[in-house]
Amino acid sequence: MVNENLVNEMTLEEKVSLCHACSRFSVASVPRVGIEELVMSDGPNGVREEQAEDEWRGLGRKEDECTYLPNMTTMASTWNPELCKKQGAVLGSEARFRGKDIILSPGINIIRNPLGGRNFEYMSEDPYLISQMVTPLIQGIQSQDVAACVKHYALNNEETNRGEVNVEVSKRALFEIYLKGFEAAVKDAGVYSVMGAYNCYNHQHCCHNAYLVNEILKDRWGFDGVFMSDWAGTKDTMEGACNGLDIEMGSERGDHRNDHMADAFLALLKQHPEMEALLDDKVRRSLRLHARIRKGDPNRNSGAYNTPEHQQATYDVASEGIVLLKNENVLPITGSPARILVAGPNADRKQSDGGGSSAIRAFYEVTPLEGIQNRFANSQIIYLADADRETLLAEAAKADCVFYIGGLHHIEGLDSENADKKDMKLPYGQDEEIAALLQVNPNTVIALISGSPVEMPWLNEAKALLWTGYLGTEGGNALADVLGGAVNPSGKLTYTLPRCMEDVPAVRYGGYSYENNRYLDDIFVGYRGYDRDNVEPLFCFGHGLSYSEMQYSDLVCAVSDGGVDITLKVKNLSKIPAKETVQIYVGYPEQISDRPPRELKAFHKVTLAAGEEKQVKLFVKKADLALFCESADSFVFSEGMYRIDAAASSRNIRLSQEIAVY
Ligand code: GLC
Repeated sequence: MVNENLVNEMTLEEKVSLCHACSRFSVASVPRVGIEELVMSDGPNGVREEQAEDEWRGLGRKEDECTYLPNMTTMASTWNPELCKKQGAVLGSEARFRGKDIILSPGINIIRNPLGGRNFEYMSEDPYLISQMVTPLIQGIQSQDVAACVKHYALNNEETNRGEVNVEVSKRALFEIYLKGFEAAVKDAGVYSVMGAYNCYNHQHCCHNAYLVNEILKDRWGFDGVFMSDWAGTKDTMEGACNGLDIEMGSERGDHRNDHMADAFLALLKQHPEMEALLDDKVRRSLRLHARIRKGDPNRNSGAYNTPEHQQATYDVASEGIVLLKNENVLPITGSPARILVAGPNADRKQSDGGGSSAIRAFYEVTPLEGIQNRFANSQIIYLADADRETLLAEAAKADCVFYIGGLHHIEGLDSENADKKDMKLPYGQDEEIAALLQVNPNTVIALISGSPVEMPWLNEAKALLWTGYLGTEGGNALADVLGGAVNPSGKLTYTLPRCMEDVPAVRYGGYSYENNRYLDDIFVGYRGYDRDNVEPLFCFGHGLSYSEMQYSDLVCAVSDGGVDITLKVKNLSKIPAKETVQIYVGYPEQISDRPPRELKAFHKVTLAAGEEKQVKLFVKKADLALFCESADSFVFSEGMYRIDAAASSRNIRLSQEIAVY
């Protein structure tokens, strides 16, 4: 068994060889002392297909076809930590089966800018929700003897010019908003590895940023795992050596001996022997990771691949991650309508093989059209792939039911790595097409598949609207089950859907730039900003309907040791089973100025049979009420009268109570 004390038996050259890649996704072995090659792979949606060594090109191997997992916004939209753990276990198990030691997932950067190309790979605009979703996900992955690698640390909130953009942000916003998820990954989940971001913070690259990596991640939070660069994110040997970079990955510099942390690092060490202690810490961390994933242990988990259980898990996540935004007595479509028209550019689109490094080869992927064909088997399904507008509208006029599946997809300039969107508009003339369909058939059901907010000029005319991320292997079946009522939708938005870019705090407060990006919205990201400034979004954070009406009652709050105990009753007034996520938002004492009206501090998803009422218990930790104080350079709790809101969304407050917390 490899252990960190092996470092004392290794030569300088052997130790340096563990600080950089030896291939696109691996770090060298040191056979002399029994260290095996460390192998990693992307990504959040499943285990990426093997790539060519000399260029970013998949090898197209059938054995690389894996279970296609719902994207991070879909998983987070379940507001169900157990499902996050389940998804993590599937990802870890399939990574093991494919012989991987580290899976480069999850990405948890804050969704602050609707144009962000990789919003689909992230979870939310809210740091508390991220912390509650990322922890079980990482625990699920690492339960399979695979290291998770939480990314991109930190402030990688846009894609355009991602390799050089500098971010300026207040310490308060940095700690309360942008680092909170990473802190949970380290302190609560015990993540084994962290990946640095391409961008700069205070004009130093995040892959070797002394403040973020040494002072915060390793010293203040006590992170004892491996900190690696993003691919080719390392820019400087001395900074890499001194600022906490443990492994340089990707270099695009040909032979890996040309990497910053290879021969150049060896030469630096020979000039400065006192730096060998820095090298030893890097190597110890790698060896600790080997031991944590039981590398070389005959009893190490061997994983599983494309099993029915894995596929069922993707269905469970997808079906709970679909958000019902609007429904004026149209959904669910029960029985078998004689004639169903399916339209829209995402109806028959496979989504798994795009988006950049998170792309995968799916073992199979049920499209929305296939799901509708599966679930409405007794109906006549009309699907016109490239019909002209006149033909489409004529069909819509004859149909008993119209499903329009639109949204975005994974090409650069939409939901993809490497570039941000130019605007929030739906592409390919969807707005006009939707408006025309709604005129011909006002009960047209619209389902938008998207990883980022979009404008909806036709919203007032729409009666039934679903919002989903990328739903994974069983996505089409999950969507069809929501449409037909086999599943009572329970997803909740994890980021605000604004009316337009001009409303977005990141734009309204100024500083928005792809060169020197000043986060002048500070902590007023997402609902925090819309609420404080009374800017009405299309749909607010935490919003999501079901086919049932819920009654909230009997809110009781009591201060206990370490926080506030909250109980309330929730009753399902409908005749069908339902799931409801009770959200607890906190309003700060009036003597604390410059705060949003409310901030999410607890939630619980409860399952209720028809007519059932349950008592729901929640707990707000006092530590989660602490606010970052720049003068103290730490989180400080303030005593006073707090407001507890029990809510169905950030703007649907059902019950409230003031309570003194000391
Ligand atoms: C990419 C991404 C990162 C990914 C890595 C390896 O550039 O930023 O998320 O894990 O390179 O593909």
